[in-house]
Amino acid sequence: MEEKIIVEKNQGNALVTENIKENTKKLYIESYGCQMNLNDSEIVASILSKQGFNTTSKLHEADLVLVNTCSIREKAELTIRKRLQKYNAVKKINPTMKVGVLGCMAERLKEKFLEEEKIVDLVVGPDAYRDLPNLLKEIDAGRDAINVILSKDETYGDVSPVRLNSNGVSAFVSITRGCDNMCTFCVVPFTRGRERSRDPQSIIKEIQELVDKNYKEITLLGQNVDSFLWFGGGLKKDFKKATDIAKATAVDFAQLLDMCAATFPKMRFRFSTSNPQDMSLDVIHVMEKQPNVCRHMHLPVQSGSTKILKAMNRQHTREEYLELVNNIKNIVPDCSFSQDMIIGFCDETEQDHQDTLSLMEEVKYDFGYMFSYSERPGTLAAKKSDDNVPDEVKKRRLTEVIAQQRKHSEHRTKAFLGKTVEVLIEGQSKKADSHWKGRNPQNTVVVFPKENYKIGDFVNVKVNDCTSATLIGEALNYSKNN
Ligand code: SAH
Ligand code: F3S
Repeated sequence: MEEKIIVEKNQGNALVTENIKENTKKLYIESYGCQMNLNDSEIVASILSKQGFNTTSKLHEADLVLVNTCSIREKAELTIRKRLQKYNAVKKINPTMKVGVLGCMAERLKEKFLEEEKIVDLVVGPDAYRDLPNLLKEIDAGRDAINVILSKDETYGDVSPVRLNSNGVSAFVSITRGCDNMCTFCVVPFTRGRERSRDPQSIIKEIQELVDKNYKEITLLGQNVDSFLWFGGGLKKDFKKATDIAKATAVDFAQLLDMCAATFPKMRFRFSTSNPQDMSLDVIHVMEKQPNVCRHMHLPVQSGSTKILKAMNRQHTREEYLELVNNIKNIVPDCSFSQDMIIGFCDETEQDHQDTLSLMEEVKYDFGYMFSYSERPGTLAAKKSDDNVPDEVKKRRLTEVIAQQRKHSEHRTKAFLGKTVEVLIEGQSKKADSHWKGRNPQNTVVVFPKENYKIGDFVNVKVNDCTSATLIGEALNYSKNN
């Protein structure tokens, strides 16, 4: 009886796609953390569909369970540990089920995973998914299997991801992998390796496939999209050594974005994430020029204090960041902004915290992702700095920052009252069956009565009401993009 309850409670966050008739094995796959992980899970599902696997949402019937993991904060890792306990319970009623760990935790913990978690049969880092068919043979033969080798050139450029839990309207396309920035708090450069960019032709090809399937919105993804640079392949750090021809014909992010927007004028484009230090004004000019590039900039700042930014090894000051924001606002006045903030980094004083609040006051972000600092083993901050802001102080400052953000979000959504915005319908509103949900070019969620419109339509919506996160309105007509 107890086990039955466990099974029912444990359907979790399964990602599923359409089944292929000939496939007989069942894959239960979950993805935690960033959008890049979700897109990687789509790549994994694609590789495994060629190995006879269909996705399932039922954990207890899975032949293979894969969890794509996140290491960004300690809490993210604890969530995964808890999931493994649940898998363990289900294994009692499904003893042949195999369990694999993918992603950043796999890369960070390597063999330790196999030692610490008996349930785990398979450990695969973010650059090793192509090796899955071989690794599965190993575990079928009763051996644990591991591949955590980071690559100089793996971009999965020729793998067409199968879209998991897709609304059929918006999709992610990865354009870079890895990060060279070495922010002192961040585990990503260790888990995802050095930066490399994907061949623009393979990006265009993937977008064409999505156009053919009637997708309407693409988010170009990377840890640091503005750093995109294609010069024939290889690590970005080796660009200096490239031939003169390769240098002269290199494609940067502004050029790539321009090329995508011009090639697919009916497709909406977003991109994430921009690191302020790598952001060029050329990108903003592409946004200004191309109406199908959304008016939204996710521009993580982490702190409003130049002292803390320096300790974090962010390559800009508070003033330089604000200058960038003002430049963007001048060139694209209707551009919205969102942030990532880390609260309570090592040696953060009350004054530093006030600097964060005052920077927020200047920018008035539309929304943001705010978290307390979580020390990550192996990072420069863990080695060199003291995680010395007490938990209760972090908590209080975080509450203040979130309250400030809520105030600004409300200010931003109120500014849309009475206006008409273009919305791409993505699905049903969670709160009301009678309403559609979509987003405007600024990335604000909009809900409105369904009438005869359908998912995937571009609709002009008049905004009549709002909360701090959502615009509420009524559809007027199809927009000219439809
Ligand atoms: N360029 C990437 C950054 C990945 S990390 C992107 O934005 O996708 C995402 C966010 O997690 C960072 O911007 C930062 O705000 C937060 N973060 C990273 N390491 C952290 C840590 N050790 N503690 C708390 N938050 C962290
Ligand atoms: Fe992390 Fe900084 Fe790169 S936050 S992902 S090291 S830009």
